[in-house]
Amino acid sequence: MIVYRAIDFSYDKERMCREIESVPMSLFTKTIFPWKTNYFAPDAFNNWFVGTRYMNENVSRWYMENEKRVDVHGTVETPYTYSASWVPEEPVSRDYVFRFDEKSGKIDKLHTLYQKPWVWKDEVDLPYIREVVKQLPFEFVQLTRLIVTPAGGFCPVHQDESRKDPYYDLGFGKINFNIKSGQQPLEIRADDKTYYGDADTFYVNSAFPHAVSPTAEKRVQIQVCGKLKKDWLSFRGQA
Ligand SMILES: [Fe+2]
Repeated sequence: MIVYRAIDFSYDKERMCREIESVPMSLFTKTIFPWKTNYFAPDAFNNWFVGTRYMNENVSRWYMENEKRVDVHGTVETPYTYSASWVPEEPVSRDYVFRFDEKSGKIDKLHTLYQKPWVWKDEVDLPYIREVVKQLPFEFVQLTRLIVTPAGGFCPVHQDESRKDPYYDLGFGKINFNIKSGQQPLEIRADDKTYYGDADTFYVNSAFPHAVSPTAEKRVQIQVCGKLKKDWLSFRGQA
């Protein structure tokens, strides 16, 4: 199983950034993390993630209480996301990352549920981003998500999917555009090895624990999920 792989693909970062910055911040949602005890505990991930990379009391988080979700809004900056594509089966108001069942507290990850091409939203104009995404080695693309972390913000350790979810085994995967790093790489931990997402374009299996330390400046990324072409490992290109 591949955890991380740099991809030899270049693109115009300035242009990409301009398009992302043309999307009103009011369309972005601040990430709220599930209150999982292991997200707080330094022991849970072999003491790899230290200090502020862990969840803390100042991070926006939610937990279940009497079959009701309780949101706690924290003061520290964490990633803000905008899903540029969607599936018609789900309400338009959704942020398109997960579906939350109020009763059980169960979370369904929409990209693992809807394994088919997703539709670009019309409300924003992202011609270059669409063109670049089209060139990636996917059979089809699902979620394309813009991720902006303000200066000083960070992403606490978490896992996007359960390790039991067959998503990656089925040939799906994520390609990440590291447009502005904020001087901090994505760090991924798997099998006692730490990977640093410092390439301009990289594949990542985010079912493994990952985090971003507090950034020195604004961090701008795009994450694209989809069904990979069989020969994606030999892919290279530029846009
Ligand atoms: Fe993540």
